[in-house]
Amino acid sequence: MSVREEQQKYIHLMQQYTEGKRLKYHIVTYGCQMNVHDSEKLAGMLQEMGYEEAQELEDADLILFNTCCVRQHAEERVYGNVGALRSYKQSNPNLIIGVCGCMMQQQEAADDIIKKFPFLDLVFGTHNLHHFPKLLYEAINSGHMVVEILDEEGKVVEGLPARRASNVSAYVTIMYGCNNFCTYCIVPYVRGRERSRLPEDILDEIRGLAANGCKEVTLLGQNVNSYGKDLNKGYLFTALLRDVNKIENIERIRFVTSHPKDLSDELIEAMAECEKVCEHIHLPLQAGSNEVLRKMNRRYTREDYLRLVDRLRARIPDIAISTDIIVGFPGETEEDFRDTLDMVERVQYDSAFTFIYSPRKGTPAARMPDELDIEVKKERLNRLIALQNDISKARNQLYMDKVVEVLVEGVSKNNPKMLSGRTRTNKLVHFEGGSELTGEFVKVKITLPKAFTLEGHMI
Ligand code: 5AD
Ligand code: SF4
Repeated sequence: MSVREEQQKYIHLMQQYTEGKRLKYHIVTYGCQMNVHDSEKLAGMLQEMGYEEAQELEDADLILFNTCCVRQHAEERVYGNVGALRSYKQSNPNLIIGVCGCMMQQQEAADDIIKKFPFLDLVFGTHNLHHFPKLLYEAINSGHMVVEILDEEGKVVEGLPARRASNVSAYVTIMYGCNNFCTYCIVPYVRGRERSRLPEDILDEIRGLAANGCKEVTLLGQNVNSYGKDLNKGYLFTALLRDVNKIENIERIRFVTSHPKDLSDELIEAMAECEKVCEHIHLPLQAGSNEVLRKMNRRYTREDYLRLVDRLRARIPDIAISTDIIVGFPGETEEDFRDTLDMVERVQYDSAFTFIYSPRKGTPAARMPDELDIEVKKERLNRLIALQNDISKARNQLYMDKVVEVLVEGVSKNNPKMLSGRTRTNKLVHFEGGSELTGEFVKVKITLPKAFTLEGHMI
């Protein structure tokens, strides 16, 4: 039986179970776009099994927590939020609660969750997402907690249904795992080694999305620049990008994440030549000091990074650049930190995700001496954020009175009278308009640039 056939068997069994019951699910997702897309796959399987989505957790018959372990804070939130469900479960014994995702791939964290929350029905990791219908079926029928965590990543499984948050803009995984082993990062341990999906599977998926009205795809991988190397076919990321660019009705292509050490001139050339590839790149810097970069095992220097930015801007003049930065890595001196501030000044990022270093058990950095005082880390983070906010504001100011192309995502979350959408450079734009414009490209004149968003009116 193929993986998909086995899955179908349990989906059918679950359909018999859910029939006539109008059962609802609610998924709480932590972490990165990979996790968001894994949740879309879980939702896709749940819909096939006959569940409907519950907007509120309180209305759900099945609650799933898709966890993240990249920083301590994300883990703490899982403990708090799962713990808060204890009383729900007491008042509704039929409620099914599951915990899955990256945190569960760490033996210790999984053991701890199982011990602390014996009322859970289902615990599983990232490598066996496709077993979810079977695990759910077993949990419901056995009446005891079902746990399945696989050490090995196994083969790439194709053909899983997904229920995407948007019809207009879709995430498409192109590869799983990471081989880089940055010393602070837990991802290679919980997501396994790099495994690329076959080009034809990716292209078929995107053609299918386009046929359903999708206009924008974001290609996902921990390090998309090394796509295809493990397939040994000589078909690499640039080839994929050029082929996606040929797919009719897809108008915009984005990708995350790029590792600076693997961003080749060929890729910059492909970005410049492919008219659908958007003028935006997420290029994590992590730190500005060569000593810290070395200890992080990033395998580039600040000089390499600056040259890369020059090459990008020379070939794609209006490109927006965003980044990830960690402050307070073990042994980071005030001088090292000033190197980070200096890089932020030099590069002039459009935006940055900034993090306080969080030691992750099992990673090399967690064993490094000179862990800094939390107050020092916080103070550095605040200085970094203040600097970046000024730069973000100044970068957005450049849009004043400009007319931009916006792909309308829908009604703004904060103001029902406004629509929101993004520019090709990934800037969030708010403007007045009717919800029927969702999924359309419109021209907006920017009249009020802010630090994190742009406001304007349609022309
Ligand atoms: N502590 C703080 N930030 C981290 N990141 C990854 N691991 C850690 C850690 N241990 C950040 C990196 C990465 C982003 C997704 O999360 O900046 O690019
Ligand atoms: Fe983690 Fe580095 Fe891989 Fe990114 S490239 S997932 S930071 S190990």
